[in-house]
Amino acid sequence: MTETALGVPLTDDSAFARFVRAVDAEVKAVGTDEQAVTQAVARHLRTWFDAGVTIPEPLRRPNADHYVMYPMYVAPDGSFSIASAVWNVGQKTPVHDHGTWGVIGIVTGREKERRFLVDPSRPNGLRELDEGFLESGDIEICCTTDQDVHSVAAAGDVPCVGIHVYGADIGTLPRRSYAEADGSCRTFVSAWAQPQ
Ligand SMILES: [Fe+2]
Repeated sequence: MTETALGVPLTDDSAFARFVRAVDAEVKAVGTDEQAVTQAVARHLRTWFDAGVTIPEPLRRPNADHYVMYPMYVAPDGSFSIASAVWNVGQKTPVHDHGTWGVIGIVTGREKERRFLVDPSRPNGLRELDEGFLESGDIEICCTTDQDVHSVAAAGDVPCVGIHVYGADIGTLPRRSYAEADGSCRTFVSAWAQPQ
């Protein structure tokens, strides 16, 4: 893709196009070193946030039934993708993994995250590590391949909108979700939502 999902050329001088180019360069330079690439992407995401993140309205719109991820950019080789992730008030994900690295930044709203380890010694196969809240403006390295199981919920009284950067095309990547009741696991793909 030589342009973003909204048709903005990557040569554009916008803060978003600069962010895409910066992530592309980091992935090409240190893509297999997840610690290095996530720290670099988090730094570039901070730069974009400090310049002022604007997400077009169609990519901020909640779905009435479930949380959605809109594509903002998908690298042609699938090496990374950038999503606008939207939870309406009260919406949440099941416990799930990612199978790749991820960096997120909260644009509006408040997000509650609970982190887990898969632990066969537990009755439901999951050990909860901690829970925390992310506020508007916060940036977090949410996942590396060895620590990427969590659940996410909108915690405030307005929709939660975040920028999510992943080390794969997250809209086509098979992943796993876990039922907290019994730890049963299923494979899913969180298909890209199409902006209306
Ligand atoms: Fe997630």
